[in-house]
Amino acid sequence: MNSRALMPAFAFRHIKDLYPTFWDKSVEMADAISQEMKTKSTSVVEIRDWASRATLDIIGLAGMGQDFNAIADPTNELNVTYRTIFKPSTAAKVMQVASMFLPEWLLRALPVKRNEEFKEAIRTIKRVSADLVRSKRAKLEKGERTDVDILSVAIESGGFTDDDMVNQLMTFLAAGHETTATSLTWAVYLLCKHPAEQKRLREEVRANITAISDPSAPISSTEIDHLPYLNAVLNETSRVFPPVALTLREAEHDTTIQGHFIPAGTTIVICPWAINTSNALWGSDAKEFNPDRWMGQGRANNGGAESNYAVTTFLHGPRSCIGKDFAKAEFACLLAALVGRFEMELEEPDKPLEIAGGITSGPKGGLRIKMKEVGA
Ligand code: HEM
Repeated sequence: MNSRALMPAFAFRHIKDLYPTFWDKSVEMADAISQEMKTKSTSVVEIRDWASRATLDIIGLAGMGQDFNAIADPTNELNVTYRTIFKPSTAAKVMQVASMFLPEWLLRALPVKRNEEFKEAIRTIKRVSADLVRSKRAKLEKGERTDVDILSVAIESGGFTDDDMVNQLMTFLAAGHETTATSLTWAVYLLCKHPAEQKRLREEVRANITAISDPSAPISSTEIDHLPYLNAVLNETSRVFPPVALTLREAEHDTTIQGHFIPAGTTIVICPWAINTSNALWGSDAKEFNPDRWMGQGRANNGGAESNYAVTTFLHGPRSCIGKDFAKAEFACLLAALVGRFEMELEEPDKPLEIAGGITSGPKGGLRIKMKEVGA
């Protein structure tokens, strides 16, 4: 079974119920950053790590109703186990990529140093996932009200065996964690490089999201989705720095691409990074960060480009990202909560940007940011 079977659970009518979870975790992250600055008497924060902890908690809660508690306690067992799989040594990372292409028996036989640790971690996560699936199914069979997370919605809709569900969980845990964390890191980087845009965004979110100044106020999907500049900044960040910089496809049949013959079996590299910043599609300022492209009549969805295919951050077609709406909403909440609360600058503004490639491509070694609480 492939992950498309989960698509109904990722429909926007379900995603909108997850906004309060996205928001609560975003606020928890901002509070924890503020606390760390006080206890360590520092104004400098490594934002990549916070982003990663927050998105892990979000995918845990919104995906399967399980709080990894990575923001509150990075040493929590589940968090550590999970990170062994998804933030591993280079060798394990290579295996993770390889696992998309190689049969499992071959992977198991590979003499990679961390193979044992990696397999043990996978067993733990699988066990926890299987327990969760069983307990949610039992709850449902007793007719108890289920939760709004993706797993519950999928179980409720039926048609999945427990094994299917566990495999699905593994996929969307992997696909939905570092990707959004990388986007948030890039957004912070770009807003530090563009202080006027940062200020404009802060003004928009503070003027419109009541929950920023009044933590007891509820948050809704409409409140977040109806902010044009926030939408523009998110879209422009995802355009300029797509977390999945490139991916591969194999031609199933003989075909053509722009008139070139492509025989069946050919591996094709799809490079969202190149497409998203192509001068032919975006004009001579294609590589510039300019959220204004997405502002104004008819531009909110295409940034003024001729077609939606000028952005391939989530790819298109039958194997595109299933979690696009989830990711966009999560990203919006995280960025709004962060920018609404802190003024941010790069610790070393003149340091040349180095990018580390992996499954996702982000600033090498993380991102150190000088933070100042608004009004402090
Ligand atoms: C900014 C955040 C994200 C970006 C840029 C992103 C991008 C992508 C891309 C490019 C792919 C296709 C990869 C390939 O086939 O080579 C993909 C697949 C996928 N994504 Fe996302 N993703 C993001 C967040 C999420 C989230 C939050 C979830 C789940 C909650 C998710 C779930 C998935 C799944 C399940 C697939 C596999 C779909 C399939 O194979 O049919 N993604 N994503």
